[in-house]
Amino acid sequence: MSEWNAQTYGSRWSGIYDGLPWPEPSETVDFLAEWVGSGPVLELAIGTGRVAIPLARRGVEIEGIDTSDEMIAALRAKEDQEQIVVHQADIGSFTLDRQYSMAFLILNTIYALQSQEEQISCFESAASVIEPGGHFIVEAFMPDPTRFRRNSWTQVHDIGLDHVLIEADKHDPSTQQILEQHIHIRDGKIELYPAFLRYIWPSEMDLMARLAGFSLVHRYGSWTKDPFTARSGQHVSVYRRD
Ligand SMILES: C[S@@+](CC[C@H](N)C(=O)[O-])C[C@H]1O[C@@H](n2cnc3c(N)ncnc32)[C@H](O)[C@@H]1O
Repeated sequence: MSEWNAQTYGSRWSGIYDGLPWPEPSETVDFLAEWVGSGPVLELAIGTGRVAIPLARRGVEIEGIDTSDEMIAALRAKEDQEQIVVHQADIGSFTLDRQYSMAFLILNTIYALQSQEEQISCFESAASVIEPGGHFIVEAFMPDPTRFRRNSWTQVHDIGLDHVLIEADKHDPSTQQILEQHIHIRDGKIELYPAFLRYIWPSEMDLMARLAGFSLVHRYGSWTKDPFTARSGQHVSVYRRD
């Protein structure tokens, strides 16, 4: 998909992002608060501040990175965001003047980077701004290629008398990329919300982390620290900067 770039997600999704049925962020915030260290903290792909703002409310000094004008504007329209410094940059390759005791990249957004090279570069950029002994926390879904039949998948997420929300995905196992279309039909109109991602196996992620100078210290199956097992649908991985 040639027109996809680092701003596309934000420009397509920002209008509905905060109305999506995200899980309540308190479990994520509780978990992250344990790993703050001496601060400050950096969120890669901060978005509308869904997690950063409640963390800031707990007194954590937090900064963020995002590429999207629209997502940053939505964050700036909220309460209790005034103290949050946002750097408009690409998480695939960035430098900052400060060192952070902890950084995090959640909600599968490492997969928003389209190639293995960009994902390795993201880990390297994170390593360049996290102090030795500091932590990098990454949350991502577990890839499940078995859900695809002939590399396609469709699902009805919501349906009513006057609306339907259908997801249609195309999978390329050779590149580990998935192109998703979330098709909303309502009020006689069709709206398309695309997402393009490259998934990573946990073992591949650990290798990327090692290449960048991190060691895995914990891997959980949820923000409430369920064990990570063959049945886990997601993982929360804690890396320490060597
Ligand atoms: C799914 S949202 C997650 C936002 C936030 N972390 C949360 O948990 O709600 C993905 C965010 O990643 C940002 N993003 C996507 N690709 C990016 C890139 N290459 N560099 C920086 N931000 C990017 C989008 O603008 C969007 O704000």
